[in-house]
Amino acid sequence: MMDRTAVRLIFLGVFLIIATSASVKKKQNVDIYSFHINSTVTSRYATTVITSRVVNTLNESQEVHFEVKIPKNAFISKFRMTIEGKTYDGVVKEKEAAKQQYTQAVSRGQSAGLVKSVGRTLEDFKTSVTVASLSKVTFELTYEELLKRRLGKYELLINARPMQPVADFKIDVHIHEKPGISFFEVKGDLSTNDLANAIKTTRADKDAWVTFYPTRDQQTTCKGCDENGLNGDLLITYDVERRNPQGEIMVSNGYFVHYFAPTDIPRIPKNVVFIIDRSGSMHGRKIEQTRLALLKILSDLDEDDHFGLITFDSQVEIWKHELLKATKANLEDAKSFVKKIRDRGATDINTALLKGVNMIKQHPREGTASILILLTDGDPTAGETNTETIMSIVRKAIGSKFPLYCLGFGYDVNFDFLTQMSLENNGIARRIYEDSDADLQLQGFYDEVAIPLLSDIQLIYTEVTNLTKTNFNMYFNGSEIVVSGQIMDNSVESFTAEVIAISKDNKVTYQDTVKTKDLSDVPPENKDFMQRLWAYLTVKQLLERQVLLKGQEKEDEKKEALKLSLKYQFVTPLTSLVVTKPQEEEVEVADKPKEGGEPPRPPVAVLPHLMLSVAWPHGSHNIPQMGFAGPGHPSVGAVQPAISLGRYSLATGNPRGGAAHPGVFGSPRGGADRQGIFGDVDFASTPISRHGDHALKTVPLVDMFEKAGRSINLKPGSKVSVPRVNSNRFLLPAVGQPKPLCYDVPLPHKIKLLEDSALEFSMNGESKTSTHGFCQIAFHYQKNHHLIIDTTSIRYSDDQNNVEFLWDQEPTQHNIEGVYLILRNNEIDVTMGNFRVVILLHKKDGNVFLWPDIRQQPKDVGLSGILGKGNISYEEIQGPPLPILKIMDQEVRPSWDRVTDYRFPSTPVVRCWLVPFQTVMEGSISNFTVAQL
Ligand SMILES: *[C@@H]1O[C@H](CO)[C@@H](O)[C@H](O)[C@H]1NC(C)=O
Ligand SMILES: *[C@@H]1O[C@H](CO)[C@@H](O)[C@H](O)[C@H]1NC(C)=O
Ligand SMILES: *[C@@H]1O[C@H](CO)[C@@H](O)[C@H](O)[C@H]1NC(C)=O
Repeated sequence: MMDRTAVRLIFLGVFLIIATSASVKKKQNVDIYSFHINSTVTSRYATTVITSRVVNTLNESQEVHFEVKIPKNAFISKFRMTIEGKTYDGVVKEKEAAKQQYTQAVSRGQSAGLVKSVGRTLEDFKTSVTVASLSKVTFELTYEELLKRRLGKYELLINARPMQPVADFKIDVHIHEKPGISFFEVKGDLSTNDLANAIKTTRADKDAWVTFYPTRDQQTTCKGCDENGLNGDLLITYDVERRNPQGEIMVSNGYFVHYFAPTDIPRIPKNVVFIIDRSGSMHGRKIEQTRLALLKILSDLDEDDHFGLITFDSQVEIWKHELLKATKANLEDAKSFVKKIRDRGATDINTALLKGVNMIKQHPREGTASILILLTDGDPTAGETNTETIMSIVRKAIGSKFPLYCLGFGYDVNFDFLTQMSLENNGIARRIYEDSDADLQLQGFYDEVAIPLLSDIQLIYTEVTNLTKTNFNMYFNGSEIVVSGQIMDNSVESFTAEVIAISKDNKVTYQDTVKTKDLSDVPPENKDFMQRLWAYLTVKQLLERQVLLKGQEKEDEKKEALKLSLKYQFVTPLTSLVVTKPQEEEVEVADKPKEGGEPPRPPVAVLPHLMLSVAWPHGSHNIPQMGFAGPGHPSVGAVQPAISLGRYSLATGNPRGGAAHPGVFGSPRGGADRQGIFGDVDFASTPISRHGDHALKTVPLVDMFEKAGRSINLKPGSKVSVPRVNSNRFLLPAVGQPKPLCYDVPLPHKIKLLEDSALEFSMNGESKTSTHGFCQIAFHYQKNHHLIIDTTSIRYSDDQNNVEFLWDQEPTQHNIEGVYLILRNNEIDVTMGNFRVVILLHKKDGNVFLWPDIRQQPKDVGLSGILGKGNISYEEIQGPPLPILKIMDQEVRPSWDRVTDYRFPSTPVVRCWLVPFQTVMEGSISNFTVAQL
């Protein structure tokens, strides 16, 4: 029944999209006349269906896009498109098989597409299809997830962003919980005052319904809404009644699930040791937020808790050598210790962890629960740095006696290492996102483990098989233990469940006998949900265990996870969704993204008609990892089209572009809020820091700077003059130093910014007088790749290709032989081999200029250029009001000045020690100038 020209649309793991025509510009020619989200939650298992109905109102065929965000924890289980009465269903296939199909399609000259990226709580799903004039298409996406209880509640998150006001817009939620709903709340940014009358909630004992039917008008006028309609979340939180301390067991169609979350047990006093990274990279807001969170956490300790504090960089500092009781006096003492935590050197995770382990082991206390919490934002860089060795040492030291929780702060952590190490030690790893609420995230995590109620929990069932995990190290108040399995013999009338655990003072046992024919409460259309729940939980746990296993066992479990993913049609990290659709010359690619090391790449867009002129090299479907494709971003199936075209403008179907994904595509350093970090000291008005620029104006600027630079290298006490020339001021990363350095580069110049001659990479910049930043930046890579960026366009060329983007066009992406270009709003993300630089376009006070931000560069290589300086360390040998710094054996008198950090779109102003160019660059400006960009 398939059209012969039907082309396979495959979803698998590649970051390449063919987002065909400019749907955004033509948006007025596409009418989403209906957009429905229907979420049904039965016994914490949520199934959500998004249905979008679109008509192409144009008098010619065009590409119609479908883009939604789904919770990270969910598995997609169905995707269907209906076009002119025909349905096109997605089929979940093994990733390898899907990849082959994709590769074949590619080798036939059919284009490739992408689709997903991952954010803090949501990930993207995108696709598009060609629709004939005045024809309609229906997209339908289903995803499933088991809601997890955290801090005493479940959260169902629904994101709505149809991209335009929709006449028939509906969100319907139905929650059914057999034990009864004890608490229920609708929040989220769609739940605002001006939309309040669009939201209706209905409650019964065991059921709750939410409808959200905003009018077309409301969709454009509500807070945060505009001509693109709604853009926000509905967050439904609830909890269930817990009348039986032994928990709730439900049975349906041969499967059961056991929810165990007793609340009426006394808390177990805990021994908690916080191991806090204070390495240089924690500098600024991170260390501030950590201090804040710790102060709050200390206040929350109970008096019968014992605690310890360890901070570490390359050295380990201990507050007190043993665990101390959380008395008022001890807490006060600890708080003043915390307030003095400052960022400084490298990262010796191993020694710090061992100190923490010993602290707990040296003072065993009967009837208590011990917990080790490690907070770090980087790789181990001092002491033992081999992660395998650290894991083995730590595993031996802990000996399964208590859990280790690892909190990875920001994107520079080796999150796989933290995950594996915590899983090996009965804990979990959690990511702390660098954001304004990082302190709340830290507290939130602590709150989750703050009240241990049971330890060594074992759940035992008779007459059942294929059980999910049944042994748990700890049970904390507010969480929930979930076990699911299959009932062995459907003819048995009942089975028993037993929970054995250790509570504060004694061993406790809960027992329950359950009838297996207890179907009455599950709606008939939903009777399979329990089996799906079981499959979901089993796959999640099998995938999680992968990091702990090796060899045959690992392969077996992987196979099992794959088998279940295929059977239940879950799009997991092991599978891909393959859809056949009646669309010419197109293949699309997507993946279940995994938490990686760095923010993911945004979608790529390449015009499909370009693909027709493409030579597809066989066996070349691996893009190099390019650094920011962390371990979670497999490099499969990338294609290397040879594109030769002039100007074109592209669309990804995302009119709000990067702005809608601040946490995802934004600066990995979350730099929107770097102001005020160094605001605690301010002696800018002391005499040495301000000087006029008079009398120097007639001197050629470069000469003048050199002279000025020379005169600044001085012995303490001599007079200094730092001319305020028209210059570009750069911030120097002074990792591990209390305050950053900055220096001026005079204008105009053509200057070498970054060069690695061995890797044949260079980046040069040209500046003009009276304008900040650069008017042009050029990249050269491996002789034949050239990229010239000015304030209107971005031009790339190599032996075969010429590509041009315009700054004001739609976001797009281009990939060729290790060169990766991503154009977003006012920034172009350039990857060449192991280098990754983002060039920002700033428009400020009538000036338009470029500014580079180096996001990644190879380590241990000979870099040169003014941005190629490694970390510069200095010593403050005399403080204010006449400070003197010792930098690389030179003594200089800096001024406490300001630098605008143009590496961030928000251009924060940062305080810095302004030092002479010569001092930090060990050469004069003429050593860095180039004749030609
Ligand atoms: C939502 O989905 C459920 C389950 O498929 C169905 O019974 C219900 O009618 C749907 N609700 C709406 C409003 O479409
Ligand atoms: C569509 O309509 C425009 C003007 O309304 C006309 O110029 C164009 O030729 C039409 N295209 C087709 C394919 O009919
Ligand atoms: C556990 O949490 C419940 C509320 O969810 C609360 O009523 C109870 O007191 C808590 N138990 C302890 C020991 O704090």
